[in-house]
Amino acid sequence: QTIAIDTILADKGQHRHFMAKEIHEQPSVIARALGAWISEDRTRVSCAAEAIDWRAVPRLTIVACGTAHYASHVAKVWIERVARLPVEIEIASEFRYREPPLPRGGVTMVVSQSGETADSLAALRYAKAMGQTTLGLVNVTTSTIAREADVALPIHAGPEIGVASTKAFTAMVLCLSALAVMIARQRGVIDAAGERARLDLLSTVPRLMAETIALEPQIEALAREISEAGDALFLGRGLMYPLALEGALKLKEITYMHAEGYAAGEIKHGPIALVDETTPVIALAPHDALFDKLASNMREVIGRKGRVAMIGDADACAEMSGEVWRSVTLPRADPLVAPFLYAVAVQFIAYHAALAKGTDVDQPRNLAKSVTVE
Ligand code: G6P
Repeated sequence: QTIAIDTILADKGQHRHFMAKEIHEQPSVIARALGAWISEDRTRVSCAAEAIDWRAVPRLTIVACGTAHYASHVAKVWIERVARLPVEIEIASEFRYREPPLPRGGVTMVVSQSGETADSLAALRYAKAMGQTTLGLVNVTTSTIAREADVALPIHAGPEIGVASTKAFTAMVLCLSALAVMIARQRGVIDAAGERARLDLLSTVPRLMAETIALEPQIEALAREISEAGDALFLGRGLMYPLALEGALKLKEITYMHAEGYAAGEIKHGPIALVDETTPVIALAPHDALFDKLASNMREVIGRKGRVAMIGDADACAEMSGEVWRSVTLPRADPLVAPFLYAVAVQFIAYHAALAKGTDVDQPRNLAKSVTVE
């Protein structure tokens, strides 16, 4: 036992916390996962889910908890946009008790870092009993979900020790993106050239994540200021909406601050009432097709004396300069790749806010890495 603990301590490398180590190793984790999910000549996705005839699948249902649930929401956009396959996302603890009808010939995928989460496992068993083909996307390949699913798909993130999930989140998104490309090919939505183009795009992720990690000092400065507030709001649209949810979850988990993530278009339906001079509103704002809409949401906040902290790319930050309270400029990226970069940014915000507050980053109160009870 002592040896095991020593090994774990040694594994922290030069980092103060496992969470820091796990954030920093994401470029290599993503490169490894990509290498495992694509053919040697890097032209084709190659995974066990190819055995399914995706042309006959009417719908993919994805069930998960916590961070895995938000990763699934990012994947929904990828799978619907790239493969044109309808996707429903469910929270496992709701799905299992609602006992919903599932389409004949449908596929249900459970996404779980540990592969042991009780609600996710129960959801898998329900889907199997309903005659669905089941997939288990997991980090721990020896887990119960991996064993019981018809097809187990590993995310190759390596052991994740920090209770707040970081590298498993981005590895899930990467693997689900690759899955989307494979499904798109099988369904005839993209040809070989289209597949290569998508894989070239995914191949840019490790470099762009490393460039984002290099911005840590700037994000740390912002996080220290955010840590002084009592509450924080995260806003995003499209692919940035699940990132806003994940950002708020990370902040809650390890700083114990109150944080909410919102689809930016929803703020006028309630959350704008929270805006005052003290609450930081963190807008995840790449210059994508939805940027103009998000910019008007930021201006709604600014008009009510809110403090907008904008995480954007150069174009987005230039458009809002002089208006926002703070901004951090991330590398430019294709909209489908942007979630990987904004994930790093929200992870650093939570991590450095927690350091400023002095909370236990790797073992936050009341939380467990793997929730095997209801
Ligand atoms: C726990 C962890 C979360 C995790 C969730 C789902 O609550 O603290 O970080 O996202 O379980 O875990 P899983 O292993 O199923 O991905």
